[in-house]
Amino acid sequence: MTRAIMRQSAIVVLAAGKGTRMKSALPKVLHRAAGRSLLGHVLEAVKPLKPVRTVVVVGLGMEAVQDEARRHSAGVKIALQQQQRGTADAVATAKAALAGFSGTVLVAYADAPLIRAETVAALAEAVTPRTPMAVLGFRAAEPKGYGRLIRNAKGHITAIREELDATPRERRIDLCNSGLIAIDATLLWTLLPKIGNDNAKKEYYLTDLAGLAARAKRRVALVECPESEVAGVNDRVQLAAVDAAFQTRYRRRFMLEGVTLTAPETVFFCADTQIGKDVVIEPHVVFGPGVSIDNNVRILAFSHIEGATIADGARIGPYARLRPGAEIGSDAHIGNFVEVKQTRIGAGAKANHLSYIGDASVGAGTNIGAGTITCNYDGFEKHRTEIGANVFVGSNTALVAPVKVGDGANIAAGTVVTGAVPADALAIARAEMQIRQGWAAKYRDIKRARKAAKAKGAKE
Ligand code: UD1
Ligand code: MG
Repeated sequence: MTRAIMRQSAIVVLAAGKGTRMKSALPKVLHRAAGRSLLGHVLEAVKPLKPVRTVVVVGLGMEAVQDEARRHSAGVKIALQQQQRGTADAVATAKAALAGFSGTVLVAYADAPLIRAETVAALAEAVTPRTPMAVLGFRAAEPKGYGRLIRNAKGHITAIREELDATPRERRIDLCNSGLIAIDATLLWTLLPKIGNDNAKKEYYLTDLAGLAARAKRRVALVECPESEVAGVNDRVQLAAVDAAFQTRYRRRFMLEGVTLTAPETVFFCADTQIGKDVVIEPHVVFGPGVSIDNNVRILAFSHIEGATIADGARIGPYARLRPGAEIGSDAHIGNFVEVKQTRIGAGAKANHLSYIGDASVGAGTNIGAGTITCNYDGFEKHRTEIGANVFVGSNTALVAPVKVGDGANIAAGTVVTGAVPADALAIARAEMQIRQGWAAKYRDIKRARKAAKAKGAKE
C-alpha cells in the first residue's frame, strides 16, 4: 500500500504546435524517427505507467494527428487548442478530458520522443502528498533556449525561468527544464488559472507552475535525466539526430539480448522490430515497420525487410526484399534479388535467386527456381497463386494468377503456367527445341566473309 504505487496517473501530451521549422505540409509530430511518429514514440513511452487517461492536445486541422494518437492509444482523448497561446493554455484545454481525475497529471511534449518509460515512471513517483509537483531537468551542454531551473538551498525548485525572461546570472545556470512535469491534479487546476502572460513572449507559460507552487509553500522536486533523453525536434537536422539516437539505442539493446550485428552502425531498425536469440544480421540491412524475427535466423547483407515474420532458422538475403505480409517458414531460404509480398513460404522452401513472389502461398519443401515470377496483377486486380508442398518450379517460370499447383508437381523451366497443375504432374509449355548440325559454323563463315568484303570496298 505505498503511495507511489497507489497514485493513478493521467498523461497530457502537447502536440498543437505547427512546427514551422520543419518546412513541411505534415504536422511536426507525425514525422518519423526509426519508423515511428514522434507522437507515437511519446505515447508508447508513457504506456508502461498504465495511465488511466491519455489526452493529446492538437491544433486546428490536425485530424491526422488525432488518427495517429488513436493508433497508439485506443482510448485517447483529444483536446483542441484553437490558438497556440502557450503551454499553460494548451494544458488548460485538457481540463474537460480530465474532469473527475484526482491523481498525478504528467505533461509531456510530443516533439521530444527519446524519453524512456523508466524516466517517466521516476518522475511520476516523485509526486507525493508532501511533494505535489516534480520537474524533469537535465544538464544542458548548450543551455541557450531552455527554461532554467532555479533552486533553493535544499535543492527544491522555486521557479523555472524562460531564456528570454532570465537575468544574466540565471542564464549561467545549466540545469534546464526538459518540459516534462508531473503534478497533483488538484494543485494543477488550482494554480493554472493564476498563470498570466506577462512575459517576453506574451504567452501563458506552463513553467510558471513551479514558481506558483513554491510561493504556495508546496514542494517542487527535481528529477534529473541525461540530455540525450530529452532532445527535441524542431527541424530536420534534429529529426535525423533523434533517429540516429534511437538506432544507437536499438542496436545496443539487440546485441545485449543475443543478436549478432557484424557492423551495427550500418543496420537500421524500426521502433517495433522484434528479434529472437542467436540471430545474425550482416551489414547494411534496413528494417521497416512490423518485422518479427524468430531465433537462429540469418539476415545476409543488403536486405530490406518490412511487415514480415521470419520463423526459426530461416536464411534471408543477401539482397532480399521482404514486403508486408511476407511470412517466411522455418529453415526457408530467400536469396538474392528475391521479392516476397503477401505470401506464406512453407518450412524449408527455397527461392534463392531473382524472383517475385506476391499474393501467393508456397508449400513446405518447395523449390522456386531462378527467375520465377508470380504474375499477380492483371492491370486491374490482384490474384493469388497457390503452390503446394514439395513442388519443383523450374527457372524462368511465369505463374499467371489466379493459379494453383498441386503437391509434388514439377514445372519445366520457361513454362508460362496459365491453368491448374495437378499434384505430381509435369507442366511444360514452350516451343520444342530443334538441332541443326553445323548451322553455327556456316553462319560464322558467311558473316565473316561479308564483313571482310565490306572493309576492302571501303579502302579502295
Ligand atoms: C519549453 C519550455 C522550456 C523548456 C523547453 C524544453 C515553456 C514555456 N517552456 O519551451 O522551459 O526548456 O520547452 O524543450 O513551456 N505547444 C502547444 N500549444 C501552445 C504552445 C506549445 O501545444 O500554445 C506545444 C508545442 O507543440 C510543443 C510544446 O508545447 O510540443 C512546447 O512548446 P514550445 O513552444 O516548443 O516551447 P519551448 O519554447 O521549446
Ligand atoms: Mg520547443
